[in-house]
Amino acid sequence: MTTNKKYGHFDDAAREYVITDPKTPWPWINYLGNEDFFSLISNTAGGYSFYKDAKFRRITRYRYNNVPMDNGGRYFYINDGGIMWNPGWKPCKTPLDFYECRHGMNYTRIIGRKNGIEASVLFFVPLKTWCEVQKLTLRNDSQEVRQLKLFSFEEWCLWNAATDMENFQRNFSTGEVEIEGSVIYHKTEYRERRNHYAYYSVNTPIDGFDTDRETFVGLYNGFDQPDAVLEGRPRNSHAHGWSPIASHYIEVELQPGESRDFIFLLGYVENEQDQKFIAPKVINKEKALATIARFDTTEKVDAAFDELKDYWDRLLDIYVVDTGNDKLDRMVNIWNQYQCMITFCMSRSASFFESGIGRGMGFRDSNQDLVGFVHQIPERARQRIIDIASTQFPDGGCYHQYQPLTKRGNNDIGGGFNDDPCWLIFGTVAYIKETGDFTILDEPVPFDNQPGSEVPLLEHLRVSFNHVINNLGPHQLPLIGRADWNDCLNLNCFSWDPNESFQTTENKSEGSKAESLMIAGLFVVTGNEYIDLCRRIGHHEEADRARQAVDAMSAAVMKDGWDGEWYLRAYDFFGRKIGSKECEEAKIFIESQGWCTMAGIGREQGMVNRSLDSVKKYLECEHGIVLNNPAFTKYIYEYGEISSYPEGYKENAGIFCHNNPWVIIGETLAGRGDDAWAHYAKILPSYVEEKYQTLHKVEPYVNCQMVAGKDAAKPGEGKNSWLTGTAAWMWLTVSQYILGIKPTYDGLLIDPCLPSTAQEYSVKRKFRDAEYRIRITNPKGVSKGILSMQVDGCSIDGNLIPYAPGSHEVTVVMG
Ligand code: GLC
Ligand code: GLC
Repeated sequence: MTTNKKYGHFDDAAREYVITDPKTPWPWINYLGNEDFFSLISNTAGGYSFYKDAKFRRITRYRYNNVPMDNGGRYFYINDGGIMWNPGWKPCKTPLDFYECRHGMNYTRIIGRKNGIEASVLFFVPLKTWCEVQKLTLRNDSQEVRQLKLFSFEEWCLWNAATDMENFQRNFSTGEVEIEGSVIYHKTEYRERRNHYAYYSVNTPIDGFDTDRETFVGLYNGFDQPDAVLEGRPRNSHAHGWSPIASHYIEVELQPGESRDFIFLLGYVENEQDQKFIAPKVINKEKALATIARFDTTEKVDAAFDELKDYWDRLLDIYVVDTGNDKLDRMVNIWNQYQCMITFCMSRSASFFESGIGRGMGFRDSNQDLVGFVHQIPERARQRIIDIASTQFPDGGCYHQYQPLTKRGNNDIGGGFNDDPCWLIFGTVAYIKETGDFTILDEPVPFDNQPGSEVPLLEHLRVSFNHVINNLGPHQLPLIGRADWNDCLNLNCFSWDPNESFQTTENKSEGSKAESLMIAGLFVVTGNEYIDLCRRIGHHEEADRARQAVDAMSAAVMKDGWDGEWYLRAYDFFGRKIGSKECEEAKIFIESQGWCTMAGIGREQGMVNRSLDSVKKYLECEHGIVLNNPAFTKYIYEYGEISSYPEGYKENAGIFCHNNPWVIIGETLAGRGDDAWAHYAKILPSYVEEKYQTLHKVEPYVNCQMVAGKDAAKPGEGKNSWLTGTAAWMWLTVSQYILGIKPTYDGLLIDPCLPSTAQEYSVKRKFRDAEYRIRITNPKGVSKGILSMQVDGCSIDGNLIPYAPGSHEVTVVMG
């Protein structure tokens, strides 16, 4: 097997990844939109769009795990004298003379050339707009006049993406459309309770259309051979039930050298109940037409595209590093930050691995994602914190997930994951340190969204903290509940029924002795943050109370959480050790090594360094750090889902990239810069992209949740790209702990931890109303330690740049 074939490359100046072969080892996708209207788009234009919620407001249909893979999307068909092709190669798969897909910051450009015709499509969602713009440019590079038949294609989803795939006795009778001018409107269920419709338009008169899938495609054909395109003749079909689609037909004549733009818009509209119709059954099209008018010329579209580019220029101008190492710089300056924005928008809901119907916004996930985007969009981080906290219960427990559309806790999943509360402290503190905005603590926030139950956010932090100490087990360590960060370590589950989900089956916590060392470490880290915060705002008694609890936790870990060479992972229901040398399998786990080393528990006693060494010895492999070792080889009823996975995959000894940064941060806090860097580079996408694209399979410009571990059949194979806490943690790790620019309440703390080969670099950091240009040199090749520091020419003691608005030059000498 060749592992070094390349399917594309980075174009850093354009902030794009350029795919040059459409047959990537897996669809390589991008995201359009960053507020309300979103689209997923693959390198062959596959994917779909939705408004806010990929489950409840799915606009176009997509069939996951299709055959062939990634079939269905926004397609342009060109029939050129009987030869039928698409700019993105699919679905016709007619060989192209040239193909390129450029994924950029919330836009994608796909270019195909065939027999002297170039078709280039720019896809993006304009800022603050509920539509996807598709600007198609057709150019005749030949010497002859050319006559082309152009067909567009979108397939509507009947809004609820789940029932769209299952309730056919209803669905096949409900579909409704309207066609007026060059606009096709999808209005299924609009006559009853829905107040929204979608539309697909083009800014030129059309020569025909189709809205019924069977008529356009043909019952026995695939998207690669639609009857209408094959014959070069639209049917002007009007859908009644079955599967409504939208296809425009345009006859295009191009002179030699001529180029023409066509602007297609896929949009979504909501109307007030009493404004829904203008005549019986005739929908009110005012808002759609207004949006269409905003983008009906090339100039207007180009201006909107420039705005999007400016928006990203601003976002990516907040933290800019120059190390001279392209592979590092492009991840820090472009792709890692971009992925953080995407995880902010999507949480874990919609990717090519997350179907958009399974999961809403995770309580723990969203709080962790926060640290990745708080510097870019602090106002939205603030709102996110309040939304999340509003789903908390009065005892500090929380719904594990909530729906983005309703912002309500999800009853199907419930709660009981005992790490969840700690993450609220984690996210809130990150927000305040970045912004200096302590007023968020006074914000009234309800419990479980119940009006009247509002208390200041600070109180939510207090009950979060208390939730851990009110739920301690026999060793005075935190009870794990349903599970901790590791959703699959289900110690109170005991399931023999394959029809039960490990996450939602009864949580038999009554009488359980199952305790988590991961939560213990997390509690010490976030508890210390809580103490620090309380002191800042003058709540000294609360700080003292919290101090005792945190110290007691550290002591409990040292007493009953240390296994000799590493931290234990947990105690099971019966109080037996998990992640111990005494265990038959899974003797060591990553999570507790990460959190207890970050917490510095037992540092003086040598525990931190021992633990980090054990990670290197037992968990590290070529592609990263595996979750546990040895892998489970059989299902263990007392452990739950973790032992259900084949060896080396997912939580059973996969490289679960999300938690690698915990160890890396632990390494930086221990001052071990070479080790930190070695772990980091192993999962840094740009290093992986250089090494192997075929084996890794998924997009080389973002992190994926899991890379198959050393015990797997195919170590190094990546899965579940894009929506993973890895993005935020990689960002936190590199921006604050490796490059060492750390926001604090008082200013920026400079504390890099570098590989000894690093000599110098500079960082531009915008922080609140200040901008710092920081130049760091490392003449002696140390990993950690600051010899001297100057701010605007004046030497300062210590390594904190006190916050002051304005522009500042900072020079730092390590040593
Ligand atoms: C998934 C979940 C996350 C969990 C992790 C480990 O990524 O989204 O919440 O912590 O798996 O099980
Ligand atoms: C499965 C996955 C885990 C995920 C959980 C919740 O258990 O292995 O990664 O967090 O489902 O969806």
